[in-house]
Amino acid sequence: MISYVRQPTGKMPPVPNSTASDKDLADVYSFLQSIPPSAASSENSHGDAANGKKLFAAYGCYECHDRQGQGASTAPRIGPPGISLVAVLRYVRQPTGQMPPYTAKFVSDQDLADIYAYLSSFPPPAPAANIPLLNQ
Ligand code: HEC
Repeated sequence: MISYVRQPTGKMPPVPNSTASDKDLADVYSFLQSIPPSAASSENSHGDAANGKKLFAAYGCYECHDRQGQGASTAPRIGPPGISLVAVLRYVRQPTGQMPPYTAKFVSDQDLADIYAYLSSFPPPAPAANIPLLNQ
């Protein structure tokens, strides 16, 4: 980080030693390291994606949402999830449409966090503009 700050390659102005010593920059670096990752990424890291994959099959989620949550005629795409883990927890406990509810007794919050991590491991679908067949 220090060498970049002394000689930035982009729009950032260089910071000379007279403004901030190497020691100062080292302190800034430790400060930045001490900041926890954003809420969104730490939310995902609570889940175990490998276990989530097993649970997604074991609880039959795949029967309607397909193996990777990519969606099917029976249910919409949920991988990667377009909603937060909290919203998924709320929805699965009290669905508002066709989906059957799952109580915490049957599928725990931790199970759902694992499933969420599994679903989050998939890339978002390509925008239609990038699919040549749809643009002919
Ligand atoms: C019987 C079919 C079926 C099964 C099994 C099923 N779902 Fe669903 N799910 C649906 C349908 C249909 C919807 C669309 C909304 C609705 O009608 O409830 C949905 C919606 C959702 C949504 C909301 C999507 C959004 O973006 O709002 C989530 C999250 C979800 N399902 C997760 C799960 C999980 C996790 C499991 C397994 C524990 C599961 N579903 C099992 C049919 C199913």
